[in-house]
Amino acid sequence: MKQEELQAIASQLKHPTGEKGIEMANMMHETNINMTRNSIRNLNIESRNSILELGHGNAGHVEFVFEQAKNIKYYGLEMSELMFQEARKINRNYVSQKKAFFSLYDGNVIPFQDEYFNKAFTVNTIYFWQEPEKLLSEIYRVLKPKGIFCITFADESFMKQLPFTQFDFELYTTPKAEKLMEKTSFKIINKETLTEKVKTKTGELVDRDFTTLVLEK
Ligand SMILES: C[S@@+](CC[C@H](N)C(=O)[O-])C[C@H]1O[C@@H](n2cnc3c(N)ncnc32)[C@H](O)[C@@H]1O
Repeated sequence: MKQEELQAIASQLKHPTGEKGIEMANMMHETNINMTRNSIRNLNIESRNSILELGHGNAGHVEFVFEQAKNIKYYGLEMSELMFQEARKINRNYVSQKKAFFSLYDGNVIPFQDEYFNKAFTVNTIYFWQEPEKLLSEIYRVLKPKGIFCITFADESFMKQLPFTQFDFELYTTPKAEKLMEKTSFKIINKETLTEKVKTKTGELVDRDFTTLVLEK
């Protein structure tokens, strides 16, 4: 594949746009659903929780969030206008019932007041964070005391085999991510690394290691 084509895939993963962006988001949803569910399960969602997600993509997994407990509220933040629109469309029933809320933001400043959420999570977005420490301090700020944040990402060992990750991606091993978290006020209370089989573009099944770090305010 040509360099320009690889660069185009990287850009779509970082910021889905146009017709291709919708296709890419559907593909991401299918490929990453196991990682997403793992992150959600580690939140231990309880009834009446308010939950924040950063970078939800098409948000086809929001139904799974609502299966976790009663009377919860889900808030999704995206940088991609297309993903914001797709997520609202796919989750229109939750939106009209005022259970799910979607907003756009700049990727740095979280547009909510201090101590607003019980739980927060993000899956496959850390590679694109412009200022990781600042964004983590924002997540910390909007969580209530003892609030939980789960961050899930695929390991550098897997990601670096994908030719498009040479563009736009900052890759993480678990120790590198832990080091980053240690610079913040969060406490790491659990970490889980799992291996799953994922399909490559040519249909082969390969192993992917991914990690969920569970952090407490
Ligand atoms: C690789 S996709 C992952 C989507 C979904 N979470 C998944 O795992 O399938 C990355 C998504 O995060 C969004 N994104 C990138 N940087 C972000 C940031 N700083 N905050 C929130 N979302 C971000 C992109 O617009 C894109 O929809």
